[in-house]
Amino acid sequence: MITNNKKSQITVLLSGRGSNLEAILAAQLFYNYQVCCVISDNKDALGLKIAEKYHVPTIKCFDRLDYPDKVSQKKNLYNFLLTEKACDLVCLAGFMQIIPPEVTDALQKKLINIHPSLLPKFPGLDTHQKVLDANELRHGATVHFVDAGVDTGKIIAQVTVSVTTGETQESLAKKVLKEEHRLYPWVIAKLLSRQIRYQDQELIYTPEATAEAQKLDFLLSK
Ligand code: GRF
Repeated sequence: MITNNKKSQITVLLSGRGSNLEAILAAQLFYNYQVCCVISDNKDALGLKIAEKYHVPTIKCFDRLDYPDKVSQKKNLYNFLLTEKACDLVCLAGFMQIIPPEVTDALQKKLINIHPSLLPKFPGLDTHQKVLDANELRHGATVHFVDAGVDTGKIIAQVTVSVTTGETQESLAKKVLKEEHRLYPWVIAKLLSRQIRYQDQELIYTPEATAEAQKLDFLLSK
């Protein structure tokens, strides 16, 4: 367990269930970060309850119905994120909005996402069904930096699962999610300790990070 109180601070944005948030929160006990803020764009998101359970210091919701229109909802949410929640890393975890370019620009190298496919294959929604339709033998999840495109940012690390006979969308979703919960906290910790660095459009992994990734069966981007 890390006891020093100079832990890096992260903000998590979500819209729903929050199982990745829970994995990130559970792992903060032994990693070098703390979740200082959770932001949701949906008041019914279960992730908000998880944030409360773990006593996250700042929990904010910008629900669509609290604003006259989508534009003002987003404006308030992103203003809060950029002006009041300066932190070391912003992690999207099931946040169902496309991040505007001014936000991706402002948070360059500090904004990451987890996506349930082996990007660049299957960006967007319904990835498990797309994998089944394409008769893929391998599937998985990707943690990547967020740029102005949809699931197009620089890939940091991936985890794979095999697609077996009789697999359904549900069985695949379950398998992939379990792996997401291992991958995401690890990538966050490695970025914050600078064992993974993004420099001059290149990702640099320390030998320690590379060895750990191998042991954990994570694939690192070239
Ligand atoms: C995960 O599958 C993640 O890859 C995707 O959205 C889902 C969020 O699940 N971006 P949860 O809310 O963390 O349970």
